[in-house]
Amino acid sequence: MAGAMAAAAAGGMLLLLRRGRPPPGLGPAPRRYRYKEKWAATAPRIPPTRLALHHFDVTYSLQLRDQWPSVRAGLLCEQKYGALLNNFSAVRHVAQELELLNATDFVSPAPKKEAGRGDGVSPEGSGEGRTAARAETVTRAETSPPLRASIRSNIRCYTFPRGDITRFRPARPDTLGLLDYYLMDAASLLPVLALNVQPDDFVLDLCAAPGGKTLALLQTGICGHLAANDVSISRTKRLYQILHSYVPREIRETVRVTSYDGRDWGQLEGGTFHKVLVDVPCTTDRHSVMEQDNNIFHRRRTKERQMLPMLQLQLLMAGILATKPGGEVVYSTCSLSPLQNEHVIERAVEVAETQYNISVQVEDLSHFRMLFQDTFSFFSDCRLGELVLPHLTANFGPMYFCKLRRM
Ligand SMILES: C[S@@+](CC[C@H](N)C(=O)[O-])C[C@H]1O[C@@H](n2cnc3c(N)ncnc32)[C@H](O)[C@@H]1O
Repeated sequence: MAGAMAAAAAGGMLLLLRRGRPPPGLGPAPRRYRYKEKWAATAPRIPPTRLALHHFDVTYSLQLRDQWPSVRAGLLCEQKYGALLNNFSAVRHVAQELELLNATDFVSPAPKKEAGRGDGVSPEGSGEGRTAARAETVTRAETSPPLRASIRSNIRCYTFPRGDITRFRPARPDTLGLLDYYLMDAASLLPVLALNVQPDDFVLDLCAAPGGKTLALLQTGICGHLAANDVSISRTKRLYQILHSYVPREIRETVRVTSYDGRDWGQLEGGTFHKVLVDVPCTTDRHSVMEQDNNIFHRRRTKERQMLPMLQLQLLMAGILATKPGGEVVYSTCSLSPLQNEHVIERAVEVAETQYNISVQVEDLSHFRMLFQDTFSFFSDCRLGELVLPHLTANFGPMYFCKLRRM
């Protein structure tokens, strides 16, 4: 310790010398040249992206085993986007323009595929690779009625085929200034599709900003009672901007935008919504390995990162409490971490039962893998819910989503 401090002091002296400060041997430097050497300043600076990658190498290699190198490569390469068509825009022929470029809409064909699925018949491969624990947890869900109308065909989202890394042109405004499409990680649409919004549903988007999923909910054309909340005022401003750029005034004025702490929502308006989307803050794995700015692996954010699963659980509990009996909650993250995904679901089911006497059932979404396997690479061994894995040929995600029904 003393040696290290001496070295630090020597380092400080060297700095002073380099800057041409008073030469040594002439007594203490004038007060204005003195400063305290801080440990934080002498500790090696490891960029947060490297810390994130190291953390993921340790944890995800155990979880994903021989798939990790491929997922890792995907995370470190340019991600792919989807173009969510804006049904409110008057720009014509956007779909034809995208189809000429060989892009296809992955959402619209889904209802047909789903109709082709027999009632009660498990989708091809749905049981593959599932662990015994998962099979136990969803037994009740698998016997519940299948999600008949889960895919709303009004949503159209174009992607380029696997292996095609063409980029979309920037969005264009129509004569009223509404943009023709919204570029997003196409996997972000899956939680919205899983929410299965029906006409007259009261819908809550609990962590809504910057608003990609809120916009997708509005694109269903049937989401007339939508509340969009986000605790961050600055991010809520971005949500307003997106609504302004994509949604006509008469529709956006129907959206109730608030900036509450979502954890309080259950007490504010418990039991009022048919559908609740809980798209929680998470380690945003792709961002964490690629961007230094606003990186949750920054040393000064260690505590915040460690507390994420607790925050996620509290937000999910608030979402469950905000739901009417019989209503549904979709929980989602853009992380591969089981601690932020399945574990949060398991804890929430337990807390709902023991602390609130609310029975919550995990719904089976394995048919999503069958419906969207051409577009996304799904993890076949996710204990609860579904997980889209980044892959070099289909570089979307990570996106975890799981659906709960309040009984
Ligand atoms: C993953 S982002 C949501 C992305 C958004 N759903 C979308 O699709 O554009 C998570 C959001 O949760 C918000 N958030 C964090 N803590 C919250 C809290 N206690 N209550 C409500 N929102 C919170 C963050 O401000 C952030 O905007």
